[in-house]
Amino acid sequence: MEVATADKQATAAPPLEGLPPGPDWSLLRSTRTWWRRPLETLEHCQARYGNMFTYRLPYEGTWVFVSDPEAIKQIFTGDPRLLHAGEANIVLLPVLGEHSVLLLDEPAHMKERKLMLPPFHGKRMKAYGDVMAQVAAAEIERWPTDTPVRTRPRMQAMTLEIILRAVFGVGEGERLNRLRDQLRRTLNLLGHPRRAIFMVLLGPDRLRRFPPFRRQIERIDRLLYEEISTRRGAADLAERDDILSLLLQARHEDGEAMSDRELRDELMTLLVAGHETTATGLSWAVELLARHPGELDRLEADLASGNDTYLDAVIKETLRLRPVIALVLRKLVEPMEIGGRLLPAGVSVAPSIYLVHRNPEIYPEPERFRPERFIEQPAGTYTWIPFGGGVRRCLGASFAEFEISVVLRELVTRRRLRPVGKPEHSVRSTITNVPSRGAEVIAASR
Ligand code: HEM
Repeated sequence: MEVATADKQATAAPPLEGLPPGPDWSLLRSTRTWWRRPLETLEHCQARYGNMFTYRLPYEGTWVFVSDPEAIKQIFTGDPRLLHAGEANIVLLPVLGEHSVLLLDEPAHMKERKLMLPPFHGKRMKAYGDVMAQVAAAEIERWPTDTPVRTRPRMQAMTLEIILRAVFGVGEGERLNRLRDQLRRTLNLLGHPRRAIFMVLLGPDRLRRFPPFRRQIERIDRLLYEEISTRRGAADLAERDDILSLLLQARHEDGEAMSDRELRDELMTLLVAGHETTATGLSWAVELLARHPGELDRLEADLASGNDTYLDAVIKETLRLRPVIALVLRKLVEPMEIGGRLLPAGVSVAPSIYLVHRNPEIYPEPERFRPERFIEQPAGTYTWIPFGGGVRRCLGASFAEFEISVVLRELVTRRRLRPVGKPEHSVRSTITNVPSRGAEVIAASR
């Protein structure tokens, strides 16, 4: 394995004063290794350098990975003026736009986040349950019953449909079809790791001017602005409960409404952040359940008895064992003491979701799929972090968990899952870590 070979040549020299040790590879090698095998790289570095190590990437700068829960708590509860997540996510700027809540920091971020939270709150979110169940049932009914089906593309279609309907309302129509099509094209542009790394290396400014990319963004923007303008004038705006209608009616603390540009950037953020991630979580759940008939039996029995506790534990355990995203980033504005070490300004600290989820002291037998562990002990705020944490914790976390629960219920009550071939390993798909064969299973009829 490439990571293991690289180990022989790695030295433990800290690249900058104050930084923990890490591999002293050339930038080319660290980029290649990270893009090809992110999870193995994390494991390798932790085994060699411990809970805190430095990793350098040419386009990202210096990352300090952290996997000790106390240090992670320090980062998630730290002063957001000094820990910039928006700045660390800058690679997403050309697609999401400068008003995106994912890219803002400090007061501008809190101002935007406050406005966006209500549509994702408890009861409000449950209103999307019927749409989720309808979309899931219709999709699952189309799956073959006796031949293998790669479920990840099916889940992607399902979650795209669900997020489109939650964001824009149930209305079918030509514009929604065009929007779906253009969104797929935009995501395809980014979905392939080779294409994505090319774009990342171009950098946000050059990428924005890159003609094929610019044309694609213009096409989707036209549709989004059309949708915003039509909805602004809709007679039933006040009665609607889709996210766009709620955001159009929302007001900042100073009474100001969101501008069209702001709305466009947030719609794009929700469509991009809310679709691929949830599809990946769902496909891992299917892959794992198909290989664990005992756990699948228990899930079926609990659902039949009207109990959701085990379903919730299955979702928690899936997102622990196969986290969709391996890390989150915060760029240090000033030097800061983290995990007993004074880190210099300018580096990005990276709580490693993947590593903390595999710590045997927190999760005995960490490689085992054992949903019961979340019944015996609730998920910890700083030890179960698939959605990140603090004031940057995923805005759509409850939406995603709810959506996964609705889709799994539809699937497990309609079909019996059986495994195909060997267990799938995790491979990179730009920023998410996905099942290597697309979560291939047989979904037999009952
Ligand atoms: C299984 C599905 C999902 C996973 C694993 C996931 C994961 C994440 C992670 C790790 C972050 C960064 C948190 C941090 O920096 O601490 C994040 C942020 C975010 N996510 Fe998700 N996400 C999922 C689904 C969704 C959905 C369904 C939506 C919206 C409909 C969404 C919207 C967002 C937004 C807007 C942010 C930015 C929050 C901020 O910066 O204040 N995500 N997500």
